[in-house]
Amino acid sequence: MGRLVVVSNRVAVPRRGEPPAAGGLAVALKEAFDSRGGLWFGWSGSVAPNPPDMVRHARRGRVDYAVVDLSDAAYQGFYAGYANSALWPLFHFRLGLLSYDRGQAETYRAVNRHYAEKLLPMLRRDDTIWVHDYQLIPLGAALREMGSRHRIGYFHHIPFPPWAVFSAMPGAEDLIRDLLAYDLVGVQTHRDQAGLCDCMSQGTGMKVRPGGEVRLRSRRTVLRAFPIGIDTDGFAEAARTSVQSPEAERLRTSLVGRKLIIGAERLDYTKGLPERLRAFGALMEGWPEYRNAVTYLQVAARSREDVESYKDLKRDIERLAGTINAEYGDVDWTPVRYVGRAVARDTLAGYYRMAPVGLVTPLRDGMNLVAKEYVAAQDPDDPGVLVLSRFAGAAEGMPEALLVNPLDAQGTAEALAAALSMPLAERRERHGAIFRRLRENTVKSWSGDFLRLLEGNDDPAEAHPPSRAAALSMYQARLSSRSVATSSANSPADKAGTQVADLSTARASRAR
Ligand code: G6P
Repeated sequence: MGRLVVVSNRVAVPRRGEPPAAGGLAVALKEAFDSRGGLWFGWSGSVAPNPPDMVRHARRGRVDYAVVDLSDAAYQGFYAGYANSALWPLFHFRLGLLSYDRGQAETYRAVNRHYAEKLLPMLRRDDTIWVHDYQLIPLGAALREMGSRHRIGYFHHIPFPPWAVFSAMPGAEDLIRDLLAYDLVGVQTHRDQAGLCDCMSQGTGMKVRPGGEVRLRSRRTVLRAFPIGIDTDGFAEAARTSVQSPEAERLRTSLVGRKLIIGAERLDYTKGLPERLRAFGALMEGWPEYRNAVTYLQVAARSREDVESYKDLKRDIERLAGTINAEYGDVDWTPVRYVGRAVARDTLAGYYRMAPVGLVTPLRDGMNLVAKEYVAAQDPDDPGVLVLSRFAGAAEGMPEALLVNPLDAQGTAEALAAALSMPLAERRERHGAIFRRLRENTVKSWSGDFLRLLEGNDDPAEAHPPSRAAALSMYQARLSSRSVATSSANSPADKAGTQVADLSTARASRAR
């Protein structure tokens, strides 16, 4: 079996001698990387005015980490611009926040092409490539244009809206067509799968067969839901240990016996934070017995501060928290504690365990792993209750949580009151049912399921019929027409600092 090649927007290279990060993709991929070796390619997270046009490598265990830096212009057009000011709101159903700029869209494509050019020479013939998330949708098509006939899968971590929403994006059809370069396209939930299939059939006019199969000539792409999980036992263990830690003790002491409601996420408008604060305000207003008896701790790590739509949010949340604290607080009690920075994963695990209520109410979310982590962190003998938005992907597999519509402050406050007063037997029953499911569907089983289907697909040579020579000449033809188009000063590709280099046949054949 060949190597696993993973491409994701950000790549965190572990420090020498230290294990990879305990969360997310690193855990999901560990088993595959350990058994077959691999390459993890993407953005280093660094931005510079004119970064050197090179790939930096670091070998850790059986994984070769390969990262590139972004120029200021690429960062603005690709990351802050098209990916996070246009695609992010689009995929989260927020058309009012979508800001489209054709130059940024071109930079997004130019950066993806640039990544493909950097990746191609590093590939071996029998590698399997797994591309992650909306920043990299056109990467598969760029690799195919350059002659790659590898198995390539794409996983979309965020929601997928139906065509009625998606078609608002200029160039929506091209984005959907790009997905046809992949052998397998994974989304989080059945709701997302329905959205994706709707976009595929309406955006391309192609028939999506039962099982999510689309055929373009003899090429086959499968569209399928793979709900992502967590390292359930690992997180439960971290919570058991961390609840004894000095940090946890500091929080416990400060509560002076009051019950804790906890929320933790990136400071993002999709997370429904103002709505959540309003719901907590409604709880204080309608259930006076909880005044001075509960504390709501909201951790909101700063995120994407260069993106315009994130700036107002911080102000709104600070104002709302201040208003609630002024209205209901007392000399010895602050109802809302708002921490505007990231808290370490293990520390959070301990906080979750001591909180009788987890409040996770995004307006839209691909999955939401905080919901899963909160449940995994609980003491099974005396578990807390999860109040969860029905618009989080996680809700699809957690009917035992108290499901709410986050836009309904009163309804969410009722769920909070029900959670705070829920009898132990009911808490155990609800928790037990979710926890069992979390142990069956972990992040490891998620990556295993995805890769099994990707690699068990038809013969990739048959699935991707154009010969390499034909694909190469098509690509070179496009390059030369593009270089005419982009040779004028200040073309988006130039601005992005992403040189569209000539692809030499020698380089392409190394990739085979
Ligand atoms: C979400 C996206 C990821 C992204 C992460 C952090 O989870 O699905 O692709 O990496 O947010 O966002 P950032 O913009 O900081 O990478």
